[in-house]
Parts: sequence; structure tokens; C-alpha cells
Amino acid sequence: MSHKYNVPHLYQRSTNFATHYTKHFMNILLLGGGGREHALSWKLSQSPLCKELFIAPGNGGTSQCGTNLPFSVTDFEAIKATCIRETIDLIVVGPEDPLVAGIVDFLKAQPELPNLMIIGPSAEAAQLEGSKAYAKAFMQRHGIPTAGYREFTKESLLQGIEYLRTCALPIVLKADGLAAGKGVLICSTHDEAINEFTEMISHQKFGAASAKVVVEDFLDGIELSVFALTDGKDYVLLPEAKDYKRIGEGDTGLNTGGMGAISPVPFADETFMQKIITKIVEPTIKGLQAEALDYKGFVFFGLIKVGDEPMVIEYNCRMGDPETEVVIPRIQSDLVEILVATAKQKLHGITIEHDPGFAATIMAVSGGYPGDYKKGAAINGLQQTLPENTLLFHAGTAQRGDEVVTAGGRVLCVTSLDTSLNAAIKNSKEVLSGIDYEGKYFRSDIGYEFSPLSPGGGT
Ligand code: AMP
Ligand code: GLY
Repeated sequence: MSHKYNVPHLYQRSTNFATHYTKHFMNILLLGGGGREHALSWKLSQSPLCKELFIAPGNGGTSQCGTNLPFSVTDFEAIKATCIRETIDLIVVGPEDPLVAGIVDFLKAQPELPNLMIIGPSAEAAQLEGSKAYAKAFMQRHGIPTAGYREFTKESLLQGIEYLRTCALPIVLKADGLAAGKGVLICSTHDEAINEFTEMISHQKFGAASAKVVVEDFLDGIELSVFALTDGKDYVLLPEAKDYKRIGEGDTGLNTGGMGAISPVPFADETFMQKIITKIVEPTIKGLQAEALDYKGFVFFGLIKVGDEPMVIEYNCRMGDPETEVVIPRIQSDLVEILVATAKQKLHGITIEHDPGFAATIMAVSGGYPGDYKKGAAINGLQQTLPENTLLFHAGTAQRGDEVVTAGGRVLCVTSLDTSLNAAIKNSKEVLSGIDYEGKYFRSDIGYEFSPLSPGGGT
């Protein structure tokens, strides 16, 4: 196995794919419709290898990069029919739902699609995200640092309650299955933990996802997101990022899908990144291989720095959102070439070039999000001329006649690249200030731990 993390200023080697495969023009299908998919479609469509790009279902921004197709990411028959009709060469799966539901296995089993290249793990490997208990057991088997834990179901409810009484506070409860990012509760008293635990298991607080609950030790530290592309044998690291999950400034209030992100992460210096590679990334890739798990795709390591040590909070089997909106714009190499090398198990020797500067993205959301919010508000200011090195990615938007309207909680985000984090944040805020829709809200303190910019004026 070769590891390929390079600190940005050393990251100058060029990629040479000519020896790996014959170049040909490709039709690409990207599944998803968020800011992540707008950033991916923006990048994929720039590749000289990309003939036609389709995005299903896409959003008001992805339609500028390719053709939106109006079906859901879990409509496997529609996906298969599109792959056949449009002679798709490469399919990239954005979100986790179709992966956990088995889209990769389904497509591989179609005799009509013998040469389709697929970016995403098999259903079994996607359990690294789809089941917290599966991920914890995998980490234990491979000596990957993570919080101590126990798992409980209806049958072991009483043992669970007894165990909770003995736990140090706070106590972390996690629904085992996918719960749209809402399945983790951090309880500050034993009574609260016991109530929530009972709600989860006995009253299906998170539906079937909480039929099993993982009780985890609380880790105190600062989080970051690390990304790799693996072909199941080798991997390349992508730039790391930090996202801001809470709705309120200073990391207060409810959890959201993500209110902004920065990359690189100032505290992730070379020494710390090397620890992440040695203790987490490489044992994970070796573990996938040792267990013969079919994984050709993105691995998202949700990490926390405790003291000087990295630990895994979670795995995801896809890219992060909004991390993608800062990671992808920093990548200078041709993403299609790298994805083809991934699908063909030819990542060995491949390196990625990326911009050594900073990227910051700030997400504008609908008023009320992550609770109830209105949709259908007209968005003004999208036609403004963007400064150089600034990108506007749509998330929850839709085209309504000539207008672009809000169609989700996270509406759009603005990413800026600059030599300093401050400048990148300032540019993104300025562009966001020129965009208007009813109920617009954004956090004006993205990157606050690392930037002296003062918060304020976020609405
Ligand atoms: P997850 O869905 O596993 O990423 O958890 C959501 C969020 O809960 C994480 O981003 C952390 O902020 C927090 N979290 C999860 N597990 C722990 C833990 N063991 N200790 C502290 N915070 C945690
Ligand atoms: N930003 C966190 C995630 O995509 O899960």
C-alpha cells in the first residue's frame, strides 16, 4: 500500500494516467441533488473526458453543468434504465441512502451493464455508515482508535438501563441505522440518557434505525473530516476539511446538515495528518481488504482530535456536505481521471494536485431550518458577477419558470478560495450578502476558531 498525503506546498507532482488506461470520452451519471452534487457536477463537467453529464435528481445549479433527470436516488429501475439508454460509462453515487440500499450490487448484477464503472461501496461495505454497531466492531477488529461502546436492543433493554447508570457523563446514544443525521444524542444526566434510550428502543424514536442503540463514551476534542478515495487496495487522500454543524453562531443550537466548511484545517499539521494516516486511514483500507469488502469509492473519516490523538467518531461511505464544496474546488487534478482509476483499481501511483490556499464555504438556509421552514421563495441576486475564485453552489433550489426558488432547508452556499482563510471567508460573506430570499439565514462565524473576523450580520 502506498500513502499519498502531501502537505499542500509540497504537492506539486503531476498525475500521469496515460499508462493506466486508454482515454475515451465518457457519459457520466451523478446521483444526488444537494450542494455536494453541484460541486461534483461543476468539477466533472470541466473534465475533457466528460462527454455528457446527467444528474438525478439534481437541483437549480446542477442544470448549468449537465442534464437533470427527474427521479429519486433510490429509484433503482430508473437508474438502470438511464444507464442503458444514455450508455453511461461512469456512475458516481453522491448520498448514502442508495449505497446502503445496495445500488452498487444491483447495478453489478445487470447483464446489460457489463462495463459500467461505479463509484461507491457494496451494500455490505456501506454498513460502515449504515450501521454504527457494524462500524464499531470493524474498528475493534482492526485496532482503529474510537470511543469505547456497548450495543443494546429490545432483548437487552434492562441490561442497557443498568449499564447507563454506571456510565460517566455525558453519555452518547446513537441509533444504529441511518437517521438523516439526527440519530445521535448527547445526554448530560443519567435520567435523560435512560429516558432517551427507552424512547429509542421501545418507542422507535428514530424508527427502525433505533431498534439497536450504541452507547458510546463521550470524547472531548475538536472535529475534522478526512476523505480518501479507495479502489479497495490503494487510496489517495483528498484535502481535509472542517464543517460547522450547529445552526447557531459559536456552535450553539440544533444540529444541521452543515452550515459551512473550511479547508485546509489549520490544526491538521503534517505530524497530525501522519498519525491519521498511520493509525486510521491505512488500518481501515487494510481492514477492507482483509475482509474482502468490495469498496471502490469515497471514504469519509469523521474524526476528533483528543489531546494530540485522532479518534474516529464515524465513517461515511460518501463525501461530506458541505465539505465537498471546499474540498472539490481545491482539487486541481482531473476528477474523472481519478474516478476511473478508482473504478479500475488503478490508484496505485496516482497523486492528486491541489490548491495550497484556503477555501471557505458558507451555507444560506431557509428560516426555521433545521425545524420547519417554507419552500418556494424566489431567490434574487443569483445573476451577480462573482469575484474571481468564488463559486456559488445550489443545494435546495429549484427552477420555477424563469425563477430560481428555495426548495430545501439548506438553500445554497458560496465558496471562496484565497491565500488566507480570512479573505476566503470575507469574500463568501460579501457574495452571500448580495443574495436575497425570504427567511435567509447564514452563520457569519464560519472558521471562527481560526479567524479574527468578528461575527455579526448573518441575516
Ligand atoms: P455522528 O452522526 O456519529 O457523526 O455524530 C454526530 C455528532 O455527534 C458528531 O459530529 C459529534 O459532534 C457528536 N458525537 C458523536 N459521537 C461522539 C462521541 N463519542 N463523543 C463526543 N461527541 C460525539
Ligand atoms: N457534513 C457532514 C456530513 O456530510 O455528514
